[in-house]
Amino acid sequence: MKLKASLLMFLGGTLAGLVLAAILGTLLMPRLMLRERVSPYGLQETVQHITTNAVSAGWVVSSVAALDDSVRKHGGGEVRPVRLVNLCQAQHAARILNTDKARVVSVMMPCTIAVYEKSNGKVYVGTMNAGLLGRMFGGVVAEVMAGPVAREQREFVAFCEPERTVVTFPPLAAQWRKNELNLTDMKNKTNTTITDWLKEAYAAELETVENYLANSVWLDGLGAQEVAESLAEDMTEELGHATKLARRLKQLGGCPPGSLQLARNQKALQPPKDSTDVRSVVEGVLEAENEAIAHYQRLISACDGKDHVTQDLAIGILAKEEEHRTLFEGFLKSLKKEGGA
Ligand SMILES: [Fe+2]
Ligand SMILES: [Fe+2]
Repeated sequence: MKLKASLLMFLGGTLAGLVLAAILGTLLMPRLMLRERVSPYGLQETVQHITTNAVSAGWVVSSVAALDDSVRKHGGGEVRPVRLVNLCQAQHAARILNTDKARVVSVMMPCTIAVYEKSNGKVYVGTMNAGLLGRMFGGVVAEVMAGPVAREQREFVAFCEPERTVVTFPPLAAQWRKNELNLTDMKNKTNTTITDWLKEAYAAELETVENYLANSVWLDGLGAQEVAESLAEDMTEELGHATKLARRLKQLGGCPPGSLQLARNQKALQPPKDSTDVRSVVEGVLEAENEAIAHYQRLISACDGKDHVTQDLAIGILAKEEEHRTLFEGFLKSLKKEGGA
């Protein structure tokens, strides 16, 4: 009887987990997998910008298909204009196609960027989230898709993003930059062991994931989509940092802390009362990223001459946090410009 009850509990728990995963997947995946930007140009001009950028980066434009024409021709009636810009980069494609396990990814080749009009008359650019997609597959697909493909594809459509406009560096961020170099509190932590530094970093990474998740779902209104998508994308990366830190902790003989041992400090990153207050979230992200940068800089110094493996790990994560900061500084510039501040 006992065995039967345990089995039923196990099956019930597994089923509940699967249902929850399916619900979360259904809610989040479309938003995570596909990205949409508003183009400042008309349909043809947008296609032209994308193809010019792609060709100058060494890609081949294999075709520009008029999907609306095809739909009409085959009896689907009139639909608003949609252009599919099909792009290929031979070296990237060859790396994937030369790996047996990865060849199935050819169903997504060539890379397609969609340019389309909506009923509001605006032109939009749709792309696959190559970074996330690549990381889901791992191996050579992650190396190619989450690396050069994601980076170059972002550049092809960068003209759609208003934050590309160059404005003065925000004074708040400049202050943060100053703070991160202030290492005086290191003196108060001379007894802090590398394991303690790792545990602090681990707690902060997990807290960041929690807050990025909450804000990515909560935000709406003007400018919210781009910020929410970036938060959702960064969540995967921050979780990866936490995983690496936990593994290193174990290698050093420490146990990764459980939830009851994790400190929570990110006051500035709590979801705002007003879900359209995108700027306060961006400022909260910058504060969290700056704190992370300062922490990893201290950890790197603490490891000097003592623990090169942890130091190497911290340097790798530091580079990623700096990337995140640059991205969100761009959002802040853009929001300040729009808000006239
Ligand atoms: Fe991180
Ligand atoms: Fe980060």
